[in-house]
Amino acid sequence: MAKRDFLSLLDFSFEELDYLIQRGREFRKMHDAGEVYRPLVGKTGALVLQMHSTRTRVAFQAGMAQMGGHAIFLGTADSQLGRGEPIPDFARVLSEMVDIVMIRTHDQAAIETLAEYSTIPVINAMSSLLHPCQLLADIQTFEEKRGSISGATVAFIGDGYNMCHSYINAARQWGFNLKIASPEGYLPDEGILASTNNAQLVETPQEAVAQADLVVTDVWSSMGHEGQEENRREIFAPYQVNEALLDQANGDALFMHCLPAHRGEEVNDTILDDARSVVFQEAGNRLHSQKALMEFLLLGRVGG
Ligand code: CP
Repeated sequence: MAKRDFLSLLDFSFEELDYLIQRGREFRKMHDAGEVYRPLVGKTGALVLQMHSTRTRVAFQAGMAQMGGHAIFLGTADSQLGRGEPIPDFARVLSEMVDIVMIRTHDQAAIETLAEYSTIPVINAMSSLLHPCQLLADIQTFEEKRGSISGATVAFIGDGYNMCHSYINAARQWGFNLKIASPEGYLPDEGILASTNNAQLVETPQEAVAQADLVVTDVWSSMGHEGQEENRREIFAPYQVNEALLDQANGDALFMHCLPAHRGEEVNDTILDDARSVVFQEAGNRLHSQKALMEFLLLGRVGG
């Protein structure tokens, strides 16, 4: 089986992405039923994190353990990568010892270099540009609750950063309509936006949520924006998602946030607990969707 990487949603066909979503749903059902499924006995994965993580790390480590494999965690302080070992060397060494690697680092180009020099699958655990694994969980969650997302209307409110970019790629792949409300100066990358007719900028959060089936936001200051928090709080203040904004979406609209959330900033104190919020199911689906992804990259499709 030729090695595949998952650095962006655009690395896979729609048909492959849909397979992963359906397989992630099966993983959730198996997990809820207490079914033991250990197809990765003898496999080892390395998780390289150069930024903080809760969901991604637990999904990788718990997912590997639940599937019978083993996960090694390499933080910046733990590996020679943190002391300047060249990525091509790091890639070739890991390829000699483990079966799959997942990496979170700011620089998307570094992840691409890792993939280029690795003979094992590489997963993007988030860069400043993209967060494709989060989108697998988000699409799975929407489809569990509402059926196919193709043709739906999605509102993204806030920073035109990595989550927004991956939502644009998802709109392109799944064929949903994405309306993005971001402040001037914090708009998504022009090239990514121009890559699809399914995503459009709108002027206000109110315009974005009108007729939306799903409303999504993310933190105003991501990792890498340290020192900008006060300025961003002022600029993004009109972009808070709260009940009053969500009331302007479709009656059965869902609310998602990749978490961690900053209550009092991009969300108010109560919206995460609103009946329309599915943020904790979304977080749980990081596990199930990531298991589907790791199984696919290591073993191919189950059932051919
Ligand atoms: N949503 C997400 O990627 O969470 P972590 O940063 O905790 O991994």
